[in-house]
Amino acid sequence: MNFIYNIKVKILSKEEVAPNIFLIKLLAPPIAQEALAGQFIHIKCSKDNYPLLRRPLSIHRIDKEKGEIFILFQAVGEGTKLLAGRSIEDDLDIMGPIGNGFNIYPESKKMVIIGGGIGVAPLLALGEESIRQGKEVQVLIGALKKELVIGEESFKILGAKVDVATDDGSYQYKGLVTDLLERIIKEGWLADQIFACGPKPMLKKISEIALQANIHYQVSMEERMACGIGACLGCVCKIKTKDKREYKVKYEYKRVCVDGPVFTGSEVVWND
Ligand SMILES: Cc1cc2nc3c(=O)[nH]c(=O)nc-3n(C[C@H](O)[C@H](O)[C@H](O)COP(=O)(O)OP(=O)(O)OC[C@H]3O[C@@H](n4cnc5c(N)ncnc54)[C@H](O)[C@@H]3O)c2cc1C
Ligand code: FES
Repeated sequence: MNFIYNIKVKILSKEEVAPNIFLIKLLAPPIAQEALAGQFIHIKCSKDNYPLLRRPLSIHRIDKEKGEIFILFQAVGEGTKLLAGRSIEDDLDIMGPIGNGFNIYPESKKMVIIGGGIGVAPLLALGEESIRQGKEVQVLIGALKKELVIGEESFKILGAKVDVATDDGSYQYKGLVTDLLERIIKEGWLADQIFACGPKPMLKKISEIALQANIHYQVSMEERMACGIGACLGCVCKIKTKDKREYKVKYEYKRVCVDGPVFTGSEVVWND
């Protein structure tokens, strides 16, 4: 496990990029220095001790030179609404970077990155790192409707090809983002790796498609968290492993906070 800092950092900017979705830039040099795409920070959302538990948010972008990190989040409940109400120049108490990031294989040439809704949050840093390493990146973004499409421009600026699916057809393809994945595979655009974050049914469907197409798949999982540092076992998910000596499939519970949040898609027990 990497070293986890617990520090107070300054909010440098805050922007509502879509209804109820906020992008916050933090000055956090030690965390920016260490952070990997796919890791997250655990945030004390308010200035006092309520709510007691921190909230996990992925590191959306990492600027190592400036010592800055970005978070992109949807205000869905008490903690994230309090966070959305914090002001520029406020100090924020954060812990991080936490967890295992995405694993980009050196031999991979083509990647597909798939974000469903706010699931795009951990994927921009991954896109940036993949392009820095010279990979060809196809991004597929799924959203309920046009106003909720996030990240399209940011990925395009990096040099990725971006396609969007909206449930109501208000922007680009009408339907599910997984239909777009099936389409590009049928057309012969065979990726070496697929990465995804978003709602569980989407992640499960991608797992089936990836298995059939024999493409390695990594997924960023979300579970409710308490400690965020591996101590309380409050965030476990069921994982399939192989016992090499007995050639048997075994199951174990792994902590999303420190054993994840990134797992191999074929290891996750989706029907648990
Ligand atoms: C590793 C990790 C990274 C995450 N990264 C991001 C991110 O970058 N951007 C973002 O917007 N959200 C992210 N989330 C989800 C985010 O942590 C939750 O939305 C947040 O904790 C909700 O807190 P709240 O107090 O606002 O809502 P609560 O009042 O606690 O809950 C409001 C609603 O959100 C659901 N919820 C609460 N916690 C989670 C959770 N951990 N996962 C899924 N649903 C939850 C509840 O079931 C409820 O329906 C991440 C979660 C994990 C585990
Ligand atoms: S949140 Fe406590 S072990 Fe993961």
